[in-house]
Amino acid sequence: MTTHIGLKNYHSVQFFVRDLDRALEWHQKKFDFRPVAKSTSEYEKSQGARSVVLRGPGEMGWIFTQPTEEKSTAGRFLKHHPEGVGFLNFNVHDLQKTAAFLAERKAPFLFDIKSTTKGGTFSEVAIATSLGDTNFRFIEDTGYEGFAPGFETIADWNSVGGNRFGFTDIDHVTVNSRSMAGVAEFYKSILGFEQYWGIEFHTAKMGKDLGTGSGLESVVMWDKHSGIKFATNQPLEPYFNNSQIQIYIEDNGGTGVQHVALITDEIIPVIHGLREAGCQFLDAPSSYYRALPDRIAANKIGTIKESMEEIEKLGILVDGSNGKYLLQLFMKEMSTQFDQANAGPFFYEIIQRAGDPGFGDGNFKALFDSIEQEQVSLNRQEMRDRIDSLTL
Ligand SMILES: [Fe+2]
Repeated sequence: MTTHIGLKNYHSVQFFVRDLDRALEWHQKKFDFRPVAKSTSEYEKSQGARSVVLRGPGEMGWIFTQPTEEKSTAGRFLKHHPEGVGFLNFNVHDLQKTAAFLAERKAPFLFDIKSTTKGGTFSEVAIATSLGDTNFRFIEDTGYEGFAPGFETIADWNSVGGNRFGFTDIDHVTVNSRSMAGVAEFYKSILGFEQYWGIEFHTAKMGKDLGTGSGLESVVMWDKHSGIKFATNQPLEPYFNNSQIQIYIEDNGGTGVQHVALITDEIIPVIHGLREAGCQFLDAPSSYYRALPDRIAANKIGTIKESMEEIEKLGILVDGSNGKYLLQLFMKEMSTQFDQANAGPFFYEIIQRAGDPGFGDGNFKALFDSIEQEQVSLNRQEMRDRIDSLTL
């Protein structure tokens, strides 16, 4: 019996999009991800969709797929959802073992193991998940020539460059669901994940007393072998139906991936560059920064190496405790970035860790408190708009 699923790391993320050019242009211009491969015409015919792969964070592919036929996988997804994450793809150590592990746990396979050899061998298997219509694919690639079967090379992967902000990895992926227990159970019983922080039934409740609808409850599951982490949020009473989580679910047409957090070693130049490139981020009010020194002292965060002036100027959020901290910032939804509703409620988080293993939950209350101080000039809707993007 295989003792764990055998994940290595992320291979790629595949977005199903209505407008391929729009998505490609945005990710090339803002993130400097560059095209490396595209679907062959044969593959497009068989899949009913066309795809372009950008070289994303680290060694990851950032795949964008636009359906050419309604009955394709991407077409079916987009019939029920705006644009969003259709597949999370993982490299595994031994695909046979991973598939056996999943089969034993009654994972719902989308197809049996497929192997293609060109130079090396590319083997894959995929399952449906409890993350709405987002699927997981598991890949073992032993030197296959090219990105994947069905793709032709546009540019050499190793010399294409790009990624000027130096994103190295995905820190975590966050899913919104009306009930997080089912999603967490999927990670546990099908993938063999454990609860992060190792505390059974531990959940982080945030915003219950906010007096607005932005509350959420959250649980983080992880694969301790690969370090891959998933947060899952559910709406929190007493404003359940006004919760930002419920609003996401309505905008998304059900459970789905709310955000992907990208890791950087140096968040200041990244946010500076992304703002210059026209990315829109959640705004923190100046009162958040007025309260920050006291919060740093109260939580014994210690010395922040980065310039506090720059942090405030760029609107970066700080959280931590006991000599450890993280810096993070949430982008606005893709529908806001594009000013088009069909681009969907998915967004990116940018995160730099200085030892803190959390997800920035301290920012939730801090941001609310600071907004509350300004509430003389803000009505409740405005308050909610300003706190809405803050999440695990
Ligand atoms: Fe997050």
